[in-house]
Amino acid sequence: MATSEAGGERPWEYRGAWALAPMVRINTLPFRLLCAEHGADLLYSEELVDKSVAACRRSVSARGEAEYRHADGKLIFSTVPHERVAFQLGTASGPDALAAANVVVDDVCAVDVNMGCPVRFSTQGGMGSSLLTQPERVRDILTTLVRSLGGRRAVTCKIRLLEAPPPPPPPPLTRANRPVTPARPAARQTTAATLDLTRMIASCGVDALAVHCRRVPDRPRHWAQWDALTRIRQTLPPSLPLLLNGDLFSLDDARRALDETGADGLMLARGGYVSLAESVSNHVGNTKYDPTCPAAPHRAAAAAAAAADGRRPPTADNRPPTAVRHSVWMRGMKE
Ligand SMILES: Cc1cc2nc3c(=O)[nH]c(=O)nc-3n(C[C@H](O)[C@H](O)[C@H](O)COP(=O)(O)O)c2cc1C
Repeated sequence: MATSEAGGERPWEYRGAWALAPMVRINTLPFRLLCAEHGADLLYSEELVDKSVAACRRSVSARGEAEYRHADGKLIFSTVPHERVAFQLGTASGPDALAAANVVVDDVCAVDVNMGCPVRFSTQGGMGSSLLTQPERVRDILTTLVRSLGGRRAVTCKIRLLEAPPPPPPPPLTRANRPVTPARPAARQTTAATLDLTRMIASCGVDALAVHCRRVPDRPRHWAQWDALTRIRQTLPPSLPLLLNGDLFSLDDARRALDETGADGLMLARGGYVSLAESVSNHVGNTKYDPTCPAAPHRAAAAAAAAADGRRPPTADNRPPTAVRHSVWMRGMKE
């Protein structure tokens, strides 16, 4: 537990934090613990849907893990004492969110609401990124959670940017043509709608806001628009910590993100995932979100194949930004 300036205990500290971003089917307990071991300060769970969580029963395993299971025995969520886990909910209503939060509240430090997921399953149910355009529903969910949990647990949310038209996709990049330090396209103007939404979220009394700096239709290949976070930071009260999320793959990325945007903390998804995959020699084919990444045991083969094709082989200097770099909260990313 962190200590507040007033001397009391706060459930969470977001300033200066490096968080593991929520990732469905990846952020299970073993992965979160691995990330904590490598320096992650905050560990988001994968998104779990409120009604599924509300149907869980808690038990404690022989190893002392708190386990949440459905009646058929299916494990939905587990944690260990003192894990700094932020439980992420998929929800579309305040009462449903609170019912789910109340089930796990004693085992988590924070409850986060997912407002960025673009997949149909979420948006059809009024959850995820569909909340971005439903401010009254957002207010209902956040104020309900803050009223009930505030002070005991952090209440936070994770959004995407609201701008509608995505930029034209960049030309296909390959290992051979991807620039070492890619030029970031100038940020498109952060629209008034995004700023209005974030101000409204701040007014609900949340403890932190994480911003995935992409718009809903953007894909991972579109650069995250860090500049948008700068604008959001300027318009929100300094007392609300902002976590920047998107395209943090190296220590250099992290330094630039903090210097350039005024973010209070960072949130890594693929950066943390891919670097840890390499650290355990996971086969590159199993590294779901970066099939071009030259993972350690395969680097020599990848280099040979590139040379045979007349392409620039991947080296420490020219690796693409999505390549594995151990510096991501490993080997001193946090100096
Ligand atoms: C495999 C995978 C699963 C994800 N699951 C979630 C999720 O459950 N909740 C959520 O808010 N975002 C989810 N995301 C989005 C990430 O949290 C993050 O916003 C996005 O990947 C951008 O960060 P990055 O550039 O560091 O990868 C997921 C991303 C990946 C790659």
